[in-house]
Amino acid sequence: MDDKVLLQVQNLRKYFHVKGVKGPGVQAVEGVSLEIKKGETLGLVGESGCGKTTLGRTILRLHEPTSGRIVYDGKTIYDSGSIDIPELDKNGRQILGKDGKPLMKKSKKTSADMLPYRRKMQIIFQDPSASLDPRMTVGEIIGEAIDIHKLTNTKAERTEMIKSLLNSVGLNTEHANRFPHEFSGGQQQRVGIARALAVKPEFIVCDEPISALDVSIQSQIVNMLEDMQEDLGLTYLFIAHDLSVVRHISNRIGVMYLGTLVELGESYELNKHPLHPYTKTLLSAVPVPDPEKSRERKRIVLEGEIPSPMNPPAGCRFHTRCPYATEKCKEAIPELKEYDKGHWAACHVLG
Ligand SMILES: Nc1ncnc2c1ncn2[C@@H]1O[C@H](COP(=O)(O)OP(=O)(O)O)[C@@H](O)[C@H]1O
Ligand SMILES: [Mg+2]
Repeated sequence: MDDKVLLQVQNLRKYFHVKGVKGPGVQAVEGVSLEIKKGETLGLVGESGCGKTTLGRTILRLHEPTSGRIVYDGKTIYDSGSIDIPELDKNGRQILGKDGKPLMKKSKKTSADMLPYRRKMQIIFQDPSASLDPRMTVGEIIGEAIDIHKLTNTKAERTEMIKSLLNSVGLNTEHANRFPHEFSGGQQQRVGIARALAVKPEFIVCDEPISALDVSIQSQIVNMLEDMQEDLGLTYLFIAHDLSVVRHISNRIGVMYLGTLVELGESYELNKHPLHPYTKTLLSAVPVPDPEKSRERKRIVLEGEIPSPMNPPAGCRFHTRCPYATEKCKEAIPELKEYDKGHWAACHVLG
């Protein structure tokens, strides 16, 4: 892993307008900020409906952001404007003011042409069968990606590339002439991965790539994704609803609750010393192999339902279900603060 930041997301918001309903609509992603280093895997967890997919797709601009800023490899690909950013000198270093703090300025509105980034930034979908066109052969599906970005010059080169991609995901050359429905779920996901890899991406949003698969083949797919990362130097945003899936493969993990990022830290640290009450409840739900330990540990069960993102609670969005909530939590939105080096949480109770 590099020290270079590949992706920077600042204060990203995505609201979905709901027809006939006044107000902001579904506030699916609310002010998320994060960075991903080159070659890193950032795991993203949280229960179903908390905005993981929306965040992943908004970063890729498959959904147009409502506001915020996305910087990819040093280029601003989206900026709604007026976001606080540090002033840089001509060498790209932050300029410090008299008080030693970075000088800040307001960002400018930007919307980059996404075509070059569509190649560099890919996605692997949760449901492989729904993400593959049933009328196209596997060869056509992979070939289409190659054609859009004009990656080969001759027909022979193109055929060769499709073959080699199929081999690299553990499928046979003959599979090129078959249709998606002729494959098992695991094989379909391999096709989805080959399609993503066809365009030689740098960054891949892996959106619960194993959730729809048989438990017996989940680890095969995870291992394959890890090997590919190693071989090709890929950077992943790896989404899962379960901490047990991402804790081993992620360098760092972000935890989402109702559209907001509540905790972010090194994978080991976050698992050993979770800060946010919500992360603690998630961890208490992860099965432990040792029955002795399992009996000792108390599973924390949250009371109440997850509120609707159409009408989220004021203040800390978690306060309606938090056992430690105080008056302040009902009113003020907690900021993501660094409590230990690289370990961030958004919680008033932590001080
Ligand atoms: N295209 C859409 N239009 C309206 N609401 C949406 C859309 N996509 C997602 N949502 C809503 O946004 C919230 C977050 O959804 P999603 O990002 O899919 O969560 P997750 O991936 O964590 O399960 C949910 O309430 C969902 O119903
Ligand atoms: Mg999802």
